[in-house]
Amino acid sequence: MRPTIYVADIAKHEGQEVTLHGWLHNRRSSGKLHFLQLRDGTGFIQCVVFKGNVSPEAFHEADHLPQETSLTVTGTVKKDARSPIGYELDVKDLSVQARPAREFPLGHKEHGVAFLMEQRHLWLRSQRQQVILRVRHTVVKAIRDFFDQNGFTLVDAPIFTPSACEGTSTLFEVPYFDLGKAYLTQSGQLYMEAGATALGKVYCFGPTFRAEKSKTRRHLTEFWMVEPEVAYMDLDGDMTLMEEFVSYVVQTALAKHGRELASVLERDVSKLENVKAPFPRITYTEAVEVLQKAGHPMKWGDDIGGDEETIVASAFDRPVMVHRYPAEMKAFYFKKDPDDPKVALGCDVLAPEGYGEIIGGGQREDDLAVLEAAIAHHQLPREAFEWYLDLRRYGTVPHAGFGAGVERMVAWICGLHHVRETIPFARMMERITP
Ligand code: 4AD
Ligand code: MG
Repeated sequence: MRPTIYVADIAKHEGQEVTLHGWLHNRRSSGKLHFLQLRDGTGFIQCVVFKGNVSPEAFHEADHLPQETSLTVTGTVKKDARSPIGYELDVKDLSVQARPAREFPLGHKEHGVAFLMEQRHLWLRSQRQQVILRVRHTVVKAIRDFFDQNGFTLVDAPIFTPSACEGTSTLFEVPYFDLGKAYLTQSGQLYMEAGATALGKVYCFGPTFRAEKSKTRRHLTEFWMVEPEVAYMDLDGDMTLMEEFVSYVVQTALAKHGRELASVLERDVSKLENVKAPFPRITYTEAVEVLQKAGHPMKWGDDIGGDEETIVASAFDRPVMVHRYPAEMKAFYFKKDPDDPKVALGCDVLAPEGYGEIIGGGQREDDLAVLEAAIAHHQLPREAFEWYLDLRRYGTVPHAGFGAGVERMVAWICGLHHVRETIPFARMMERITP
């Protein structure tokens, strides 16, 4: 068995008799006509069952099928100006694959998010979730295409790691045979730095894990991150790569999904049209001034959290790149600015409309002695970083890269309140099922 025709391709079959396989999404009736809304994964189509065109048994059945009945429908494809897809199916025959064992818990009414998350395996069938997952698919493909077209090589980073990359407070520890313990990766960056010395321009793309104890709309404990790393690149070059990357991904998603973003997700797509490089660049110090002018009690050295990001980003109509943060608040591997060693050569890209940080990255420390001192200063276990120090012992070069979170980008592109809807099965502090 293999379906040959899908709703997405229905226009090619105007006037022809076709067989579609799917699920009943909704139905209504007006005496001699039953209207079945069929969903086949590629789209929705209205199937019109006219009393005179089908057997009496089929006509009776069509009026009694519950939502999510799986069924096969045969009929003629007719043009219909009132249909959102421009076509409907004039049904000749229908057969039921399986009736639901009980009433579908997500009927056509409003449900609370807690219930929907509990029913995530079924919630995915809604039109809204289908659109979000398709946008995610396009974002992932655009990410791969961008790096492929720019001469990057994919280098997969390990998921079990011996040490912390992004601070010790968000590590997931797992038992690891006789070696004691391992951690689920927080970032593939350190491995990409090795990759860049071998292949020049590399990236990894996979799941990353953070034991985030904060319940915010931007945090998951398992999320997907793409991390490019480039040899002979400084912070400036890195920021140019960031803005070209974000522009490409957003414009690709907009070109492909602009209509469904607007019609199904009610996204104001005009806000995404501006997302084209170059992006404004401001220093952390300037960001603090923006905050202070907005009446925020922020002082130099304070962290820019989610609320502060929203205020800073709202001053711009496209993503803003904030660079040169206080070195003290940044990870051990950042290179300090030679012109002002108080600040690190790092940059965060803040999305507009309250979506906050979608990218974090920067230039890495390439001096052996300075990096050794930073590892000691952060009280990190030196042995676990010997291999990383080797990258500075053998032909060290300036290099830079970044990490972009897929879920935050998708949430922003789709205009979603919370990242939990951007990943098929979200993992958060209080959620591990379904
Ligand atoms: O800023 P972060 O922590 O940077 C790094 O991990 C670097 N090692 C990346 C690099 O330079 N190669 O995380 C990068 C991005 C964030 O900007 C955000 O988009 C996403 O990863 N992110 C999360 N997304 C969802 N849930 C979380 N808990 C996230 N933590 C980070
Ligand atoms: Mg960050």
